Amino acid sequence: MAILDGRKVSKEILLNLAKDVNRMHLDHISPKLAVILVGKDPASLSYIRQKQKACDTTGIEWEQFDYETDVSTEDLIEKIEELNEDNTIHGILVQLPLPKQVFEPDVIRAIDPKKDVDGFTAYNIGKMFLSTDFEDLAPCTPRGAIKMLEYYDIDIKGKEAVVVGHSNIVGKPLSTMLLNRDATVTTCHIHTKDLASHTLRADILCVAVGKPNLITADMVKDGAVVVDIGVNRLESGKLCGDVDFENVEKKASYVSPVPGGAGPMTVACLMENVVIAAKRIHKYKS
Ligand code: GUN
Repeated sequence: MAILDGRKVSKEILLNLAKDVNRMHLDHISPKLAVILVGKDPASLSYIRQKQKACDTTGIEWEQFDYETDVSTEDLIEKIEELNEDNTIHGILVQLPLPKQVFEPDVIRAIDPKKDVDGFTAYNIGKMFLSTDFEDLAPCTPRGAIKMLEYYDIDIKGKEAVVVGHSNIVGKPLSTMLLNRDATVTTCHIHTKDLASHTLRADILCVAVGKPNLITADMVKDGAVVVDIGVNRLESGKLCGDVDFENVEKKASYVSPVPGGAGPMTVACLMENVVIAAKRIHKYKS
């Protein structure tokens, strides 16, 4: 079994991006990400720290706007509209989840698709349906999973791919991206009957649910490639994914660990999206 080492792959991506950003600086373009954070959810704070660190590594500018948990939908939309008009800002990221009183779809819809570096707006999500050529500003977590498979030269075409989880930000777009690459795709979710009957057929098994040990070794085909996108914090404080790594690694050909797999790839893809957005906004060729 080999590891899909997201930490290593993401470092290479960030290093290349830093060179790109440096060239842009010489041409007086300074890619900049605006981040909106509501409340102090520990998981969100941890994600934001990782994103800020990646900005520091690549030379991307960072500006953060913090709001209390009682913020209204309208207040957030007002800030987003201001950032849409601000020529120094190339990417706008609203850290999710938002508090219950905020209507998330309206907040996402307010983001100019040109600056939607999370790839969450209907425009960017919809475009992805066309083909790989239209996957720019695609959601970062599924994009990161695909990039990891591509880095390790794992064939996708014609393979049985099973995605467990059908969220708008991971499962659904990841299924679309696998289909764009000619996999035969099954999307499983909370209402799927007999999950193991599906996962056992998978050449490529991607799991994004948020449930420790959801995927055990008896649910994995010999030699499968397993991408664990789950992030769970155990009572001990330790992070783990959705896959029983210790036992699944004995059966799989590749497994991505948690931490150190899909997480760092998500952050690297976010940085890539900021650079793509900045280049497009400034009509910068390179
Ligand atoms: N919350 C959990 N994952 C994400 C993500 O990829 N982007 C944003 N904005 N919020 C998240």
